[in-house]
Amino acid sequence: MPTPVRRTKYLVTIIFLVMVAGLLSVPHHRAVAQDTSTVKIESANPFSGDPEAIKAGAKLYFKFCVSCHGVKADGVSRFGAYAGNLTKFWRGFGEFIAIVTAGRVKKGMPPWGEYLTGGQIINIAAFLETVAVKGANWK
Ligand code: HEC
Repeated sequence: MPTPVRRTKYLVTIIFLVMVAGLLSVPHHRAVAQDTSTVKIESANPFSGDPEAIKAGAKLYFKFCVSCHGVKADGVSRFGAYAGNLTKFWRGFGEFIAIVTAGRVKKGMPPWGEYLTGGQIINIAAFLETVAVKGANWK
């Protein structure tokens, strides 16, 4: 019969191995399930492709949006995947401006109209186009 101490060590080892197996398998499945290669897309954004706008937009994104929408803008943050995948934003440029300005307060998306100018929101859109994947629509 194993002593209680041995049994605890045994259990800890098992739990550790299960965790390692989980960590190894999750990114693998994600890589298989998701096509993350960026695509060139058509856009209604007047600043589409503008290097200054993209740079400014990236800065703003990483200041105001990253906490919920994640470092890859795919909606995966430390809170999990809940905030909307902006690499696959498909509602078009006009809707983007409207949603970001007014927010979706009841669903946890803050309204940014009071904090950001229209120009800043346009810059964020220009940045997000550069990380767009298949399925995105910015027309
Ligand atoms: C406090 C967390 C939080 C922050 C910060 C945040 N968002 Fe969101 N956002 C959300 C949530 C939650 C949703 C999903 C709302 C829903 O289900 O309709 C969302 C949805 C969106 C959508 C709609 C996505 C779609 O497919 O319809 C856009 C666009 C968006 N956010 C842009 C932004 C931008 C740009 C910023 C930064 C200026 C930002 N968000 C900051 C939480 C956040």
